[in-house]
Amino acid sequence: MSNKMWGGRFQSGPDAIMEEINASIDFDKRLWAQDIRGSLAHVTMLEAQGILGPADAAAIRDGLEAVRGEIESGAFTFSRALEDIHMNVESRLAAIVGPNAGRLHTARSRNDQVATDFRLWVRDTIDELDAQLKDLMTALADKALAFAGAVMPGFTHLQSAQPVTFGHHLLAYVEMLARDRGRFADARRRLNECPLGAAALAGTSFPIDRFATARALGFDRPTANSLDSVSDRDFALEALSAASISAMHLSRFAEEIVIWTTPQFAFVALSDKFTTGSSIMPQKRNPDAAELVRAKAGRVIGALVALLVVMKGLPLAYAKDMQEDKEQTFDALQTLSLAVAAMAGMVRDMQPDLKRMKAAAGAGYATATDLADWLVRTLNLPFREAHHVTGRLVAAAAARKVGLEKLTLAEMQAVEPRIDDGVYAVLGVERSVRSRTSHGGTAPANVRAQARRWARLLARP
Ligand code: ARG
Repeated sequence: MSNKMWGGRFQSGPDAIMEEINASIDFDKRLWAQDIRGSLAHVTMLEAQGILGPADAAAIRDGLEAVRGEIESGAFTFSRALEDIHMNVESRLAAIVGPNAGRLHTARSRNDQVATDFRLWVRDTIDELDAQLKDLMTALADKALAFAGAVMPGFTHLQSAQPVTFGHHLLAYVEMLARDRGRFADARRRLNECPLGAAALAGTSFPIDRFATARALGFDRPTANSLDSVSDRDFALEALSAASISAMHLSRFAEEIVIWTTPQFAFVALSDKFTTGSSIMPQKRNPDAAELVRAKAGRVIGALVALLVVMKGLPLAYAKDMQEDKEQTFDALQTLSLAVAAMAGMVRDMQPDLKRMKAAAGAGYATATDLADWLVRTLNLPFREAHHVTGRLVAAAAARKVGLEKLTLAEMQAVEPRIDDGVYAVLGVERSVRSRTSHGGTAPANVRAQARRWARLLARP
C-alpha cells in the first residue's frame, strides 16, 4: 500500500528497511505536544485569514484536542508506517474528523512544521534547564556562605599553590554556572523566531498571517527568510554549545569531587544518598554520581559535534539529514538536566572535613608567596629578589623536611640577615587567606559578601 499522505505519485509502499531508516516516530513522538500546539495556532490563523471556514476550523481544533487526549491517556497508537509525529497526528486527525482534516496542511509543510515543533521543544527545555542551573547555584552559594572561612589548599597544576577557602572555591562554580545561564538565555533570544508559514522552502501563495502564529506560539516574530527558516538548526546547535560548556563545568567539579573524596585527600564526604558501595570491598564508598556527571559531558559534547557534522555539508534548504538533529539533542539536553540535578543533590549533602582541609592547606609551602610578599613589604625587596630569597628558605625547610614556620630565626637569617621574627605571622594559612582582600580575592570577608550577593540575586524570581 502506498503512503496516504503522499501516495498519489507512488505505486508501492516502502521497503521494510526503507521504513526502518526513514521513520523518526520512535524518538520524535516526544514532540507531540508541540506539534499539536503548532497545528492549533496554524488552524486558528487559517480561519482568521478566511482561508478555512469556521466549521472546518472548529472540527479540526476539536479533533486536535481529541488526539491530545488520546496521547495523554496513553490510548494513542504510534505507527512507524506513518514515519513521524506530524503524520501520526494528522492521520489520526483524519480518522476522527474525516477528509476535511486535510485542510489543516494548507500553507504548511512538514519542513516548517518540524522546525517549529523542535524550536518549541528546545525553548521549553532551555527554560527548565535555566531553573535547574539556578537551583544548583543556590545550593553552591548556600554552602559557600556556610564555609566562607574554611581554609583549604588552592592548586595550580594540582600542586599546592596558595591557601584559599572552600567557600571561594564553590563560588568559582557559581560564576561558571551564571555564564552558562547567560549563554542559554542568549541562545533562547535568537531561537525565539517562528518558522511556521515558511512552508516547504519558498513561502506560500495563501494570504497567511505569520505574525499571528508567531504570537500565538510565544515567539517574538516570524523568521524573515523562508529558505533559512527550514534549513536552520542554529538554535539546536547553540543550545548544545551552551549545554556542552555547562557539562564541561560540571565535569570539572565532578572530577574535583572524585579527588576530594579519596581517603588520601578526604576533604569532603558525600552522603550515602550519593555514593555506592562495592560488592567485594566492604570499606568502599564510591563517588559514582560524580564519575557519571564527569562522563556524561562526553555524551553532551558528542551531540554537539554530531549535529555540526550533520549540518556542515547540507545545501539549502531542507534535507532529510536534518531528521538526525533530534535524537541526540533530546538525549544531550536531558543528560545535562540529570547531571545538574545530581550535582545539586551532591552539593547540598556534601560535608567538608575542615581539619583535613586546613592541614592540607599548609602543606607544600603554600604560604611561600606570603613570605615573599612580606619581604617586599618589610625589607622593600623587589618581588623577583624576594621570590629568590623565599625559594632558598623553602629549600632550607625542605632539606630539614619541615614547614617554613619551623625554621629558626637563625636559619632564616642565614639566607637573609634582615629577616626578623615578624615574619612568622605571615606563615599561617588563616592569616594568608585573610590577607587576600583584593577584588575577587579569597579573604573570608570577600567570600561572605559574594555568597550573600549571589543568594540575593538568586532569590529574585
Ligand atoms: N520527520 C522529519 C524531520 O524530522 C520531518 C520533516 C520531513 N520533511 C520532508 N520533506 N520529508 O526532519
